Amino acid sequence: MKFFIDTANLAQIKEAQELGILDGVTTNPSLMAKEGIKGKGPVLKHYVDICNIVDGDVSAEVISTDYEGMVKEGEELAALHDQIVVKIPMIKEGIKAIKYFSNKGIRTNCTLVFSAGQALLAAKAGATYVSPFIGRLDDVSTDGLALIEDIRLIFDNYGYETEILAASIRHPMHIIECAKIGADVMTGPLSAIIALAKHPLTDTGLATFLEDAKKFA
Ligand code: E4P
Repeated sequence: MKFFIDTANLAQIKEAQELGILDGVTTNPSLMAKEGIKGKGPVLKHYVDICNIVDGDVSAEVISTDYEGMVKEGEELAALHDQIVVKIPMIKEGIKAIKYFSNKGIRTNCTLVFSAGQALLAAKAGATYVSPFIGRLDDVSTDGLALIEDIRLIFDNYGYETEILAASIRHPMHIIECAKIGADVMTGPLSAIIALAKHPLTDTGLATFLEDAKKFA
């Protein structure tokens, strides 16, 4: 399973990279705004800064909603760095843009996916990644993990190569359940990744070992 971090915060990206388990980064306009990045130049520079920290794919989202605008913006983003994956919203114009980029060999991440039908369309258009938002589904009393299961089944039925990127991860159990289902990638906050390492029996066990080690030191 690939681990992506879902943030535009450079310090957190560096911290995750230093753990040695980071495979990529996803961002979105809200995450960029949270870091106070404003204006086209600074936004593009920020994407390059992120690419220079991590080794893997970095999703950069278009903000146009018409086909021509998405194509223009996406080409500019893709030209920034080899690691950039153009993130396109799951709307009708977005499907056309994904197909265009797929034909040109430019990688895409279809975002804001909330149903199996949307994921199927993204795969048919040739998206590299499809991003079902499981946390946001859970927030409205809908089973986000069930959506990951449905998409896994559909993609396996037809051998679609589009990778399932479980997004909007809220906590470590989301990651574990997605891994059990077979999501190809998860993207979440650093806190959820770090929480995977935590267990009280590890802490008490280590404390005992260190205490006992003093007896023969
Ligand atoms: C995915 O690429 C999105 O950036 C993200 O996972 C959204 O998560 P949120 O629901 O926590 O905003």
